[in-house]
Amino acid sequence: MDLGLNNKHALVLGASQGLGLAVAKALLAEGATVTLSGRSLERLEAARQSLPPEQQLNCHLAVADLSDPDAARKISDAAQANAAVDILVNNTGGPPPGLPSAVDVDVVSSQFDAMVRPVLSLTLDLVASMRARQWGRIITIASSGVVQPIPHLPISNALRSTLVGFMKTLAGEVAKDGVTVNMLLPGRIATARTKSLDAAQAARSGRPVEEISAESAATIPAGRYGTVEEFGAVAAFLAGMPSSYVTGSMLRVDGGTIRSI
Ligand SMILES: NC(=O)c1ccc[n+]([C@@H]2O[C@H](COP(=O)([O-])OP(=O)(O)OC[C@H]3O[C@@H](n4cnc5c(N)ncnc54)[C@H](OP(=O)(O)O)[C@@H]3O)[C@@H](O)[C@H]2O)c1
Repeated sequence: MDLGLNNKHALVLGASQGLGLAVAKALLAEGATVTLSGRSLERLEAARQSLPPEQQLNCHLAVADLSDPDAARKISDAAQANAAVDILVNNTGGPPPGLPSAVDVDVVSSQFDAMVRPVLSLTLDLVASMRARQWGRIITIASSGVVQPIPHLPISNALRSTLVGFMKTLAGEVAKDGVTVNMLLPGRIATARTKSLDAAQAARSGRPVEEISAESAATIPAGRYGTVEEFGAVAAFLAGMPSSYVTGSMLRVDGGTIRSI
């Protein structure tokens, strides 16, 4: 299937590793130009160097810490200096785990500033020019926790649900302008983040991390964690031409983890 991504420019947040980098790689492989964003020029440069040489030419970098109040403007300016942004992939770091009854509201507030505020600012900034050009894709990476809350991730469950509510509302407003707005819900995809959550669980329970990961995989109908390539492929479909009638959706990439219909 030709996704029609030649000559499209995607801005991918949280793209130095993990899900963001996998999405960027899938888009580059389909012929898109991609701007990778993250906090460290060194890590972004290493991510670019990991690409095939011909794709490195189509890969730009935009350094900013999303918790910086000025991050959205910095990233938007850096990305649009390369070309207008056709595809925005919203992705951030994840918040710390813990019991809901022990949540520190100051941490919730600072996580809002890193996970929600910059995503809203960038989306609002870039959707205007997508609408003017009558084509655009906004894809926000959330979590299976917005459908089936994850017990030890209360801040993630709460803040990502804010994004779901906003993006779903935006999808309705901009659908006639050729701009689709969708959410991607990863279940458990093997990345540094899932490794560190398993390590935290192992530390809490005093058990070996391998045992925790095996137990976790056994709860997934697919029987294993997903790969970043499996995740990137779904994102590329949502970013492409053939998904033009898919909007306001939450697409699960979870090996069946969410039990509800
Ligand atoms: N993997 C899963 O199965 C899964 C499941 C559900 C939800 N999620 C969520 O999906 C997101 C991506 O997951 P992942 O597994 O790819 O996580 P990851 O491996 O920890 O990657 C996070 C990315 O975000 C960037 N980042 C972190 N904090 C940032 C900040 N303040 N400003 C700018 N960039 C920042 C990191 O880059 P730098 O450190 O270089 O800045 C990195 O590129 C996370 O929010 C995670 O919680 C993941």
